[in-house]
Amino acid sequence: MLSEGQLLALHVLANGIADVAFSLSLGALAAFTWKTLPAVYDRKLFLLIGLAALLMAAVQPVQLVVLTAGMTGAASFAELTPQFRDVLSTHAGWILLPQAIAAVATAAAALIPSPRRLRFTLIAASLFALSLFRSASGHAASDGNYSLRELAQWVHLAATGVWAGGVMVSARLLPSLRETQLQHANGERLSLQSATAIVFIVVSGIWNTWLGVDADIQGALHTRWALLLGIKLLFVLAALALGATNRRILQQPPTDQTMHQLSSTLRMEAVLMLAILLLSAWLGSVAPAA
Ligand code: HEM
Repeated sequence: MLSEGQLLALHVLANGIADVAFSLSLGALAAFTWKTLPAVYDRKLFLLIGLAALLMAAVQPVQLVVLTAGMTGAASFAELTPQFRDVLSTHAGWILLPQAIAAVATAAAALIPSPRRLRFTLIAASLFALSLFRSASGHAASDGNYSLRELAQWVHLAATGVWAGGVMVSARLLPSLRETQLQHANGERLSLQSATAIVFIVVSGIWNTWLGVDADIQGALHTRWALLLGIKLLFVLAALALGATNRRILQQPPTDQTMHQLSSTLRMEAVLMLAILLLSAWLGSVAPAA
């Protein structure tokens, strides 16, 4: 069927799509909460959350195929399908089902019209459930349920979703605001939202790393996991530098020129976020360091 390299590529792709889609839906939800975009964007944000959630649901069967192929070494699709039942009864397999259900519930809450407050509450509740199930999968689940690793992963996923998703959504929508004053005010709110998320990302990222190497940094140094983490951190540093540039731009009076600069740096930051999310998905797909 698929070679080991192809299986890894499929695993990274499925994880990466789920990470990007989860971040986009959290970023859109954060745009409501922090009011980084005016109410005229509500329809677009609800649609984005709905489509991203459908993508997350669609990725779960692919994850099941990758997991089953990895666990059983089945050589063809015909050999694979009878094994799904057994794999779904393991912890790694079982958690895919509630993830798919929470993703479909999020999509339904976002796409079916209802009063704004109710819609927002239903999306927030189903995304919260989805975030819990996501943090109970992958390497973070290796210490069992309700562990410190899962808690660190949950904080990390929620905070990275708010930063990465907030930047990606605003990079696309903020430049389309007509007035520079409005762009400036919304840019300032986005900057505050990102700064808050970054505090949680750094703390949970360090915590995640410490638990991931099982407190043995020396022993983990020569693993592929550590190499990928190092590359990821370089990208994170570059994104932080762009965020600092945005802050400096926002300290100047709002003009067409400064807002044009803000849009350009936001777009670059969004591309970096995509790269970091894919690197993180890769990190979550290789053998753990400890
Ligand atoms: C101080 C900076 C950071 C550190 C030290 C850090 C560290 C980590 C570690 C150790 C993991 C666990 C990997 C595993 O399961 O083996 C992880 C997962 C993850 N990180 Fe980070 N991270 C940082 C910043 C970020 C940023 C800025 C983003 C997003 C823009 C991000 C997104 C993610 C995601 C989505 C996962 C889960 C990947 C998956 O399993 O699919 N991280 N991070």
